[in-house]
Amino acid sequence: MTAPTQFPVRTRILHWLTALLVFSMLFIGFVMVNSLGSYAALRGIHMTLGVTVLVIVVARTANRLTHRVPRLPDTVGWLEHKVVVGSELTLYALLLAQPLVGWAMVSAAGQSVMVLGSLHLPRIAPFDANLYFILRQTHSLIAYALVAVIAAHVSAVLLHTLTLRDGMLSRMAFALRRKDAPANAASSPTQEPVDMQAAVHERADADPDPGRHRRSSSNR
Ligand code: HEM
Ligand code: HEM
Repeated sequence: MTAPTQFPVRTRILHWLTALLVFSMLFIGFVMVNSLGSYAALRGIHMTLGVTVLVIVVARTANRLTHRVPRLPDTVGWLEHKVVVGSELTLYALLLAQPLVGWAMVSAAGQSVMVLGSLHLPRIAPFDANLYFILRQTHSLIAYALVAVIAAHVSAVLLHTLTLRDGMLSRMAFALRRKDAPANAASSPTQEPVDMQAAVHERADADPDPGRHRRSSSNR
């Protein structure tokens, strides 16, 4: 069995920053629309954090398009590989769409988005009640879709890490491998960062099925 390799540090930082912000955004969003007293304050925080998510996800998309993704552990079969790639692309699409829909929705309501309570962003949609209604529904739908896809994503990572013990979580973790753990143990809970480019090339050389390697690295 091949030991999994880690994502580059910048990818891991962007991943956990996005995760923290998106969990906060979902929580604030659902609380905000059900709260009377703190609606205005939460709406301000929600818009500022939402624009921050947009900036980070654009940076993350550029990062994803310019680096090679480490190959998945051998415990991930052909079909599951397709599902993993599909779900990660879906997450990217939802994370890009949601802040833009939020921004357009506020614009369609005839208001401008305020960042940090003072910086007014330009309106990106015309003032239109019908358009506002459609975008408002879309914002809710995307929020529920995000909850579902993130739940599936986290469940899959935990299933692999805790049940199959293939070190899936360590691909995105910061912890170092235990000193007493064997260097190539696929079931090791954590592992040291490795040079991704070198690891990918090394695997490409040793891979008996180069077609599978291409799917597993640059095309993911
Ligand atoms: C809002 C929450 C989250 C979002 C939006 C999210 C999104 C993503 C995306 C887009 C990727 C693909 C990697 C890339 O190309 O950048 C990924 C990978 C990963 N995520 Fe998350 N994630 C979230 C939460 C979590 C949590 C809570 C965990 C831990 C249980 C986790 C563990 C992982 C791991 C281990 C990978 C690497 C999977 C692989 O090897 O392909 N994620 N995540
Ligand atoms: C990843 C980013 C975002 C997430 C996850 C998110 C999530 C949510 C959620 C869950 C709700 C409550 C929906 C409902 O219960 O029907 C909501 C409402 C709302 N969101 Fe977002 N949102 C994001 C970005 C934005 C952005 C960038 C803006 C504006 C700049 C925005 C503006 C709003 C507004 C104004 C509401 C309340 C609408 C109302 O009072 O009827 N959101 N959001």
